[in-house]
Amino acid sequence: MHSQTILILDFGSQTTQLIARRIREQKVYSEIHPYTLPLARLKELRPAGIILSGGPASVYDEDAPISDPGLFELGVPVLGICYGAQLMMQQLGGRVERAEKREFGKAELRIREAEGLFSGLETAPSHYQVWMSHGDRVEEVAPGFITTADTEHSPFAALRHQGKPFSAVQFHPEVAHTLIGTDILRNFIFGICGCEAAWTMQSFIESTVEAVRAKVGSDRVICALSGGVDSTVTAAMIHRAIGSQLTCIHVNNGLMRTNESESVLHFFRERTDLEVIDINAEVYFLERLKGIADPEEKRKRIGYGFIEIFEQEAKKLGQVKYLAQGTLYPDVIESVVFRGKAPIKSHHNVGGLPERMDLALIEPLRELFKDEVRELGLELGLPEEAIFRQPFPGPGLGIRIMGEVSAERLRILRQADVIVLEEMKQSGWYRKVWQSFAVLLPIQTVGVMGDSRTYEHVIAIRSVDSRDAMTADWSQLPYDLLGRISTRIINEVRGVNRVVYDISSKPPSTIEWE
Ligand code: XMP
Repeated sequence: MHSQTILILDFGSQTTQLIARRIREQKVYSEIHPYTLPLARLKELRPAGIILSGGPASVYDEDAPISDPGLFELGVPVLGICYGAQLMMQQLGGRVERAEKREFGKAELRIREAEGLFSGLETAPSHYQVWMSHGDRVEEVAPGFITTADTEHSPFAALRHQGKPFSAVQFHPEVAHTLIGTDILRNFIFGICGCEAAWTMQSFIESTVEAVRAKVGSDRVICALSGGVDSTVTAAMIHRAIGSQLTCIHVNNGLMRTNESESVLHFFRERTDLEVIDINAEVYFLERLKGIADPEEKRKRIGYGFIEIFEQEAKKLGQVKYLAQGTLYPDVIESVVFRGKAPIKSHHNVGGLPERMDLALIEPLRELFKDEVRELGLELGLPEEAIFRQPFPGPGLGIRIMGEVSAERLRILRQADVIVLEEMKQSGWYRKVWQSFAVLLPIQTVGVMGDSRTYEHVIAIRSVDSRDAMTADWSQLPYDLLGRISTRIINEVRGVNRVVYDISSKPPSTIEWE
């Protein structure tokens, strides 16, 4: 455990993870737990401060998510955000009701008291842009609280207790649209909780090494190594902790890109001292995917297939108790089933796991975002070429072929994908964008080549800019680059007569098509 932690209780908001990230950007460690975290466990974590996140529910709903009110007895500072603010009011004796007018989007905040959360800012008539998203509002403030800021529709946009370190904000300080969000969070963690800016990647490495050693003891660990940034950094991290107790396994699932398995193995054997077993399971995976067009079913079959192979290998090695995976924070968030809402997708290394598995999981990057993982990788001494690879999903080309996966469709997509990568690299755009790749659509369209009619496949090009894959914009690639990619694919890849460019952002789309 880190010496100073801001603990976030998650009530299901889409922006909860941003709270953690904003705090960690200030070099203070922050961890997210579900709102159901038992009080005894919360006490053990000895947080320097607690944040109650936003969420989609209403506090007066019968089945409203409620955290243990005992957390207000610990003498630890608490900040409630949106739903968390309303819950704080309700649990401490105030009243929350449905607002006549929902407040959604930008609002002008007028600060009444430039102290505490608003220390260093200016009081009204100055005003600041904040971001609201709520349908309920506080009607009666809990005893002991006073208003510290308001907006046109929220007379209690911010509140603080007069004698205890509790504050509440109706708006979301964690989102970029709240221009003073960082000031507010800084005031909370440094001013109110008394944290120091001491959390660095080096301290993350030290505490993770310690935690992995304590968990693993003298057992053996296997690590699934795809060659992507996440699994490479995971392996390096675990290797730092337990050295030769770690064995890495690279599975060629037949859904990799052209020459990918070969170059990944070459890299690890030449450039690192990790022990890597390689397994060719191309036929096995293609068999499993035969006739399957549903994207979630494909993901599950690929995920289970991986686990079957890992379990077989673990048996051969003997004494293996753990499987290490490069699960990142966004994977965890998007696979959460919150109060019956369908998960967005089953990331193969999270939701796609069978319920019963012989191996226990170790996921040392579970709390990190991609850019933090890259920073960690460099800190661990991995070469830039391994760290600045674009992300590639665990289920590989399996989810970039819409509909059924077949050897012929894989051939088409692989050839198109190589062209995209070559052109992106050559033009210097590869490292400027988050991800760029080809997708094979399950339709054919009419074209004309030479003097004859063709009826062939369509390739979609997807390229996005993003900071952490939680949100993304389509990349504004130069037309001549797009033109070159299109011409080359249509000329060089047999079976394709049309190329389109995807201009959707996330949300409401996602990065992968599936
Ligand atoms: P989406 O499509 O959800 O993708 O916007 C977000 C990011 O996650 C990658 N991705 C995956 N990575 N296993 C992974 O390791 C998966 O199952 C998976 N699905 C999506 C995707 O490439 C993008 O970078």
